[in-house]
Amino acid sequence: MIGRLNHVAIVVPDLAAGAACYRDTLGAKVSAPRSFPEHGVRVVFVELPNTKIELLEPLDENSPVAGFLANNPAGAMHHVCYEVDDIIAARERMVKQGARLLGDGEPKTGAHGKPVLFLHPKDFCGTLVELEQV
Ligand code: CO
Repeated sequence: MIGRLNHVAIVVPDLAAGAACYRDTLGAKVSAPRSFPEHGVRVVFVELPNTKIELLEPLDENSPVAGFLANNPAGAMHHVCYEVDDIIAARERMVKQGARLLGDGEPKTGAHGKPVLFLHPKDFCGTLVELEQV
């Protein structure tokens, strides 16, 4: 059911430093930072030939990733995002398999303007999983 790896998201304490690390040290193409107040994060997109890395910094202490950063002050991988063709069909299947969804279980518009859902890390090998309809 899941398709391509759309992105890996990494929460960082300093977005400029994270962007410089990927741009200068790793030699990747890194976008200008963009704020997503509705998601409580500021993001740079790192474009790789086969996927993307998203570096996220909390916009303020109410950000959904603020607590994660407090627990991982040096930064850490936050989630992986897999593409699906039909997010509602994917949700039905997940729920039928007993997987838990985060939030109210209704798809939200993600950072790419597409519907996304988040799945509980305890049901997915300890990793927060985002599904994005493409
Ligand atoms: Co994501």
